[in-house]
This record gives sequence, structure tokens and C-alpha cells, in this order.
Amino acid sequence: MTLSYEIIDHEYDVLVVGGGGSGLRATLGMAEKGLKTACLTKVFPTRSHTVAAQGGISAALGNMGEDDWRFHMYDTIKGSDWLGDQDAIEYMCKNAPKAVLELEHMGVPFSRTQEGKIYQRPFGGMTTHFGEGTAQRTCAAADRTGHAILHTLYSECLRHSAEFFIEYFVLDLIMSNEGECVGVMALGMEDGKIHRFRGHMTVLATGGYGRAYFSCTSAHTCTGDGNAMVLRAGIPLQDMEFVQFHPTGIYGAGCLITEGVRGEGGYLTNSEGERFMERYAPSAKDLASRDVVSRSMTVEINEGRGVGEEKDHIHLHLEHLDPEIIHSRLPGIAETARIFSGVDVTKEPIPVLPTVHYNMGGIPTNVHTEVVNPTDTDPNRVVPGLMAIGEAGCVSVHGANRLGSNSLLDLVVFGRAAAIRAAELITPGMGHKPLGDDKGDRALARLDHIRNAKGSTSTADLRMKMQKTMQNHAAVFRTGETLSAGVHKIHECFDQKQDLGIKDRSLIFNTDLIETLELDNLLSQAVATMECASNREESRGAHSREDFTERNDDDWMKHSVIWVDDKGGTKIGYRPVTLHTMTDEVEAVPPKKRVY
Ligand code: FUM
Repeated sequence: MTLSYEIIDHEYDVLVVGGGGSGLRATLGMAEKGLKTACLTKVFPTRSHTVAAQGGISAALGNMGEDDWRFHMYDTIKGSDWLGDQDAIEYMCKNAPKAVLELEHMGVPFSRTQEGKIYQRPFGGMTTHFGEGTAQRTCAAADRTGHAILHTLYSECLRHSAEFFIEYFVLDLIMSNEGECVGVMALGMEDGKIHRFRGHMTVLATGGYGRAYFSCTSAHTCTGDGNAMVLRAGIPLQDMEFVQFHPTGIYGAGCLITEGVRGEGGYLTNSEGERFMERYAPSAKDLASRDVVSRSMTVEINEGRGVGEEKDHIHLHLEHLDPEIIHSRLPGIAETARIFSGVDVTKEPIPVLPTVHYNMGGIPTNVHTEVVNPTDTDPNRVVPGLMAIGEAGCVSVHGANRLGSNSLLDLVVFGRAAAIRAAELITPGMGHKPLGDDKGDRALARLDHIRNAKGSTSTADLRMKMQKTMQNHAAVFRTGETLSAGVHKIHECFDQKQDLGIKDRSLIFNTDLIETLELDNLLSQAVATMECASNREESRGAHSREDFTERNDDDWMKHSVIWVDDKGGTKIGYRPVTLHTMTDEVEAVPPKKRVY
């Protein structure tokens, strides 16, 4: 097929797609290693969603009391409900202190203790001595930690010779005939020009797909574009049924109120004024892991003990805290609560509700961040030329449930790991292989198809239908019945994209076109999530089935992988969970019942 687009060509050693925390850390690492690196990002880097991360980044520094990376590793495995890969978790937790000190040396303005050390607060599920005490492990820059890290990483990237292509929307991967990723096609959103980028390695750092849901803490840009590109390239996504609901999104608005509030002494109550978490998690209480707290809140509401006129939310209190603590450690959420719920946090509780926050699932990778396309005989088959990191990747350090503050850590540890691996595989400046049959035509055909859509369904209407379906059918609690209805409805949404209509066909700063490309990306991930949730007949971490209430290690201690084709056809397979460690510095943690 020949399409009449003028193409501007570029050649780099490495292409990083996404300018959030993981993308910037990878970009910096690649550039430091002398690799000619381009970072392509659809928003200005410091507007990436990492900027919204509030509470902090975990690392067993031990600044506020005893700690050890082995305790951190144990907590993360338990938090993952034994679906996390233990070799990857070991790597992340062991490298955490070094990663945080590296950020400190780059200039991240962490909050400080009296002695001038990095301030650390307690977060959910973080303990000492393998579940005994409470760890203060989450390193914080007030309640704007992501903001501080993102700005620091971007300025570090600028100090090196990384090149940025800002407000470039990546349309698709270019795959060789042999199944190697050899580059990407992109649309310059400002001037509508089409670009072909060749790279020996493409790193997908495109974040999560929270916007598949109606109510989420994610930015409007969180549409999982890299995940959808991978599906279109015939590579599966992994563990898509595991969607994290953060316990404290602002009721009605969805904005995040950090877990750091509970870390600083905040607590939840129901309509009877009861601190109900004491019943569900007698030891950790309000600082149990997120899946446990979100489920407990939902049970309280479902049993008629919610607050407000419609008894449909919960109260989060911090009015008992010293105003100086709020001022110095939680200034951002005080402002957010005032703007989005009209609440003065020093006087009244914040109305909150479990809200979609994070995707544990994503693009399957090995511990070096190389993308994996499993076969029946080789569950670890690597896709040459392709890596995935951050929320886009599923390495899998979070398994079925991520612990708060492990995500900023994941970003920097595996962003760095990607650079280390790329430098082993690529010699700076080495020649590019000739392109195969796909010279970018696949991406352009899709662009052309969507741009010329002449149906009667608007992007906004179909997006709303998809978001409501996900919200109602793949929620905190799930049943076979709601899920199979959800599967039916989400396929209906997927099919309805054939009836989309675009009013403006211009390529220049056309938000209608970009939102439709994003919706197309979201739809395949929504199908993947609903199908995998319907398929997994057990309860584990964030996937809680009312008809299969127990974790079933005999049948389900395995990662699900799902292929979704262009017509919405799906195939589900499995990969084994890694239950051994990487080194003999620590022992693997055998599965047991998870109580907090
Ligand atoms: O609650 C929070 O501050 C969120 C942190 C995280 O998701 O890691």
C-alpha cells in the first residue's frame, strides 16, 4: 500500500517513548552511556503523570529506625499476593537505596529529618522483621515527590546529550519481517508532520491505561499507548486483570489524596464514626495494603455504613493532626481537598472513595526490561529491539497488588536497568539494518483509517460507554455474572469503533484525532482487562471474586497473558511466576496466607 504522507526520517541508537519518570531515567542512562538517544513524548516531560505522584519512593535507608532491603522484599512479595516475580523484586529492593541516593545527589529536594537525612514516612504494607514492626521506608519530598523527581530527572537529561521530541504522538512500532522492533512512526502534533524514527532499541515508557475507567486518579493522557502498540504487533499483555483501586480518591472528583495522609496519622471512619479498619486489619489498620483497605471501604458502603446523603463514600480524617505537620508534609493535599471537595482539612474530614489508580499488568518483560513474547515451549522468548519499563511494563514486581511508593522506585530502578542492558547490546553509532516489508505503512494505514472515519458515533460517547462498562463490571469486587456481562459489553464497545466519526481530518493540532487514536488504544486494553478478569477464577490481590473468594495457588499461581487482535479476537495463555531469587543473598519467600 502506498499512502501519500511525506515522511521525515531520523536515526538513533535508542528511542525512548514516554517522558515520565521511567522514560527520563532510561533516557538519562542511555545518554550517559554514549548512546544517541531520542525521547519522544506526547506531553512536555514535566507534565507527564509521574508529576502527580505524591507520597514518596520506597527504599530501606533506615533513616527513621531499623530497616533492611530484605524486609522490603518480603513486604513486596506479600503485597503482590505471591504473583510477583521474586528475582525482579529482589533486584528492585536491593537497588532501592542506591537509586534514591542517586536521586538525592542529582538534586531531588527531599524533605529532611532534624539531622538532615532524607525524611521517610510509613506507608501501607511496609514492615520490619518480616511482618512484625512498622517500617518508615517511604522517602518523601513533602507530598510532591513525583513532581520533584520528574523535574530533577528532566534537568539531568538536558545536561547530557539526549534529544527530546516533545508533543510527538507515537502511532505504532515498526517491526521487521523477523519480528524485531526497528523503530516507530510518530505524528508531530504541532505541525502535523509524519516522522519515521529508526532505533536499535525502542523503550516503551508510556505509562498505564487508567483512563479506560470512568473514575481514576490518572491524567487524561494515561491511555496506555505502548500497551496497545504491543498488542498490534502480535505481542501479548500480562496480568491485565489486576487493576489497583487507591483507597482515597476524592469523592466525585477522583483526585488522589496520598496514602501519606494515613502514614502521618490520618484515619478512615464510616457513618457511625467507627475506625472500621481495626476490624479488617487488626495489626496494620489504616496502613494495610491498598487492596485490603479498598475492599474494606467497599464492604462498609455496601452494608449501609457509608457517609453522606447517599451513604456512598467514607471519611478520611486529618483534622486531629498538628497543623504544622499538614503545612510542612502535606501542603499539596490540603490545597487539593479545598479545591475539589471544599474541605478545610484542619477542621473537617475529606470525603473519599476507592478510585482506579494503577495497572499492575502491562507488557511482559524479563528482569533486564526486554519485552517477552512467550510461546508454549519458551515462556521467556525475547522480542529483539524492544523494552518496556514503568507502569507500561510488567516485570513483574507488583504481582497482583502494588504497595504504595513502590511505583516511583520501579520507575527509576528499571529505567536504569534498561540503560545497562541496552549498553550491553548496542555499540554507539552502529549501522541500522534495512527495513522489512513494514516501512511504517502499517501505522499510516491505521492513521488514515481513523482520520477518515465517517460513522455516527462520537469519540466522547464511545469513550464514556467504555469507561462506564469498566467501572461497573471490573470493579473492586467481581463475580462471574458481572464479568461475563462486562465481556459482552466491552466487545460491543470495541466493535462500535467501526462507527466512529471524525469531524476534523487535519493532522495539525487536532485533539479530536489524537483522542480517537487514544480511544482506539484504550479499547483493546479494556477488552484484555475484562477477558482476563473473567478468566481468573480465584481471588488474589486486587482481583477479588465474590464467587471464588480464596486464593488458589494450585491452579492460579501463574501470570495470565492475553493477545488481542485487530478484530477484538482474544487468546489467553500463561507464564510461570518466578518463585526463586536472583542471588543467594536472600531466600525466596514461600506462599502463605496474607493477613495484615
Ligand atoms: O498515595 C500515594 O501517595 C500514592 C503513591 C503510589 O501510588 O505509589
